[in-house]
Order: sequence, then C-alpha cells, then structure tokens
Amino acid sequence: MDFNLSEEQMMIRDAARDFARTELLPGVIERDNLQKFPTEQVKKMGELGFLGMMVDPKYGGGGMDTVSYVLVMEELSKIDASCSVIVSVNNSLVCYGLEKYGSEDQKQKYLTKLAMGEKLGAFCLSEPEAGSDATSQKTTAIDKGDHYILNGTKNWITNGGTADYYLVIAQTDREKKHKGINAFIIEKGWEGFEIGPKEDKLGIRGSDTHSLIFNDVKVPKENRIGEDGFGFTFAMKTLSGGRIGIAAQALGIAAGAYDLAREYSKVRKAFGTEICNHQAIAFKLADMYTSIEAARHLVMKAAWDKDQGNNYDMSGAMAKLYASQVAMDVSVEAVQVHGGNGYVKEYHVERLMRDAKITQIYEGTSEIQKIVISRGLLRD
Ligand code: CAA
Repeated sequence: MDFNLSEEQMMIRDAARDFARTELLPGVIERDNLQKFPTEQVKKMGELGFLGMMVDPKYGGGGMDTVSYVLVMEELSKIDASCSVIVSVNNSLVCYGLEKYGSEDQKQKYLTKLAMGEKLGAFCLSEPEAGSDATSQKTTAIDKGDHYILNGTKNWITNGGTADYYLVIAQTDREKKHKGINAFIIEKGWEGFEIGPKEDKLGIRGSDTHSLIFNDVKVPKENRIGEDGFGFTFAMKTLSGGRIGIAAQALGIAAGAYDLAREYSKVRKAFGTEICNHQAIAFKLADMYTSIEAARHLVMKAAWDKDQGNNYDMSGAMAKLYASQVAMDVSVEAVQVHGGNGYVKEYHVERLMRDAKITQIYEGTSEIQKIVISRGLLRD
C-alpha cells in the first residue's frame, strides 16, 4: 500500500494551493458579503486547466486522475468553497457526464469548450418537489419525432445563471418511471428557457444558485445523452463521481478551518500564555486533525477506486457522508477556538462554518448517502 503522492500530483496540489492563496483569498470576504460570482477567478481557473482536469487532452482536458482532482478541490476549498463548487460541478458532473456518456458530436461541440474553461456547465436534476426523490420529477420532455419539447422547473441549480450549457434531466414517459427519464444538453438563450431569480444563501454565497424555467423549449434529438430512457442511470452514475468532489470540498473546508484555528491558537494569549498551551485548546486541535485525516483517507480511497476502475458508489458516498460531518464539526470548533473573533467575518472561520453545511445537503443529503451505503451493504 503506497500512501505517497506522485511528483505530478504534488505539483498540481501545490499549484492549486498557490492559486488559492494569491488569487482567491484577497477578495473572498467581499464576494461572500456581496454574493459576487468569481468571474475573473473562474476565468483564471480555466486557463490553469482546473475546469476540465480529468478530461482526455483530445477534448481539451488535463488528462489527470481523480486523486489529482480531489487534491485541487481540497486546496481551493480551504480558501473559497464558492469557487470549488463551480469547479466540482463543471468537472465531475458536466464534463464527466459528457465524456463518459455523450456522443462524439456532443463531445466535439460541447465538451471541449467546457473542459478548456471557455464555457461553463450546470447539472439540473433537483426540482421544487423532487430533491432527494429524484424519480419523482415533474419536468417533461415529450418526444416529437426529431425533437423533444421540454417543460418544467428545476431548483437550486449551481452555476444556474452563469452557465452556458445545462445538462437537464426530464421525464419522457411517466409510465416507465425511472426508465422513462432522459438527459439533455440545453444551451443558454434557447427560446422558452428562462433563468429564475438568484437564491440568497447561508453559505457558498459567491456561487450562483438559481431556479430554471423551461417553457416549451425545443430540444433537438441529437442533444439527448445516451439511449432513450438512460437519463436516470446517467444522473445516478454521474452523481456517484460528483460525491467524491463534494467530499473533497468538505475535506478542504475542514482543513482550512483547522489551519486557521491552529495559527490563531499560537498567537492568541490568555491566562499568561498562548492558548495552544492550554489542553482545552490543544486537545481540540488533536481531535480536529485526527478526524480530518480519517476523512482524507476516505476521500482518497474513493478517488483511487474511481481511478482503478473499481465501483465507487459506496466509497464515494461514505467519503461524502463522513467528510461533510467533519467539515461541520471542525468548522464549529474552529470558531470556538477563535472565541469572539471567530464570530467576526475578517477571521474567515465563520464563513467556512456557513459553507460547511451545504456539503451535507447537495449532491445527495447525508440521509441519501446512508441509503446508498446501506443498500450496498445489504445487496445479495
Ligand atoms: N448507478 C447506476 N444505476 C443506479 C445507481 C447508480 N449509482 N443508483 C440507482 N441506480 C438504478 C437502480 O439500479 C435502479 O435501476 P433498475 O430498477 O433498472 O435496477 C434505478 O436506478 C432506480 O434505483 P432505486 O430504486 O434505488 O431508486 P430510488 O428512487 O430508490 O432512489 C436514490 C435512489 C439513491 C435515493 C436516488 O434517488 C438519489 O441518489 N437521490 C438523490 C439525488 C441527488 O443526489 N440530488 C442532488 C442534485 S444534483 C446537485 O446537487 C448538483 C449541484 O448543483 C451541486
């Protein structure tokens, strides 16, 4: 068993760390306050290859492994989880979904631009009344021969207002339940496609989250992904990989909060000494670091599974379940270590605590991860 990273993996991790410190840190509080989308930063991440990391170079990607991707996700998330969710959706849901299941024409037309960061993608499954219960969606795509007519509303869509291409999951034949669902590529600006208002969120406030409204949108048949009825499997398989990215985001939030708590505890004095010299604080750091390391092992194992071609439904779900809990616990403790300053925006930890919560909700709540894990355990 080799726990060492390769030279290439260390290089990409260090590049992401430098980028996060020099490019993401300076404006992160302002973007959070103003709910300002990181347009410039996303452009630079595209230039660095962070938006299509695992895509084959022949489609403009970096051809890297999943371990490299989670290392980058962790480093970006230590500083700015709003930026890292944009990276995560574009890489693991949109680019992966298209590369793995799209046609050659779809890859040429859409994937290359997404992988190179020229265009941004969104993944649209959730609905006002169907978040966890993904088969109960109401959006319809009616087959009209050479095209489909799409109607319905999607909710809580990351990159909802800023994306150029949208992967939309819709019901074509309700009778067939999950086997009557399809996935489509929709372009911004198509007639009948409207972007709803931006959500005012607790955390990841720099990312834009919108509802999307489809009113008789005409979708050419060549924009369906896979065979008729493949949409639900497409969504499930794509989300399995997406969960590894969000697990890495949670890991990064926890690690970022821990780093801040550790540094603060070495300079802040109370009762005549730096607070790290009090066991009340030192033991907190020990617990925080131990849980972060445990989460890191689960995240790396899931990424490794994906790279090895092993099934990663369960390992990805376990990584997300555990790392998101660690992100919550560690960020709350990091605020506590900071005392009153922890409650003040300029110390950054209150933002990390707010950002942590979403990792227990999106790409499947913690309860959904437990369904995936327990079904895996009890199969056969
Ligand atoms: N791979 C392949 N097929 C899968 C699968 C997987 N990982 N998981 C399920 N399936 C298949 C099953 O085999 C079954 O097919 P058959 O009947 O042909 O065997 C079919 O899908 C239905 O499966 P279930 O009966 O298990 O379906 P279910 O209705 O009980 O739901 C669920 C399963 C795991 C709860 C699923 O609905 C789920 O994952 N829900 C959560 C959805 C989610 O994560 N939403 C997040 C939105 S995206 C987002 O947040 C992005 C963003 O913007 C950040």
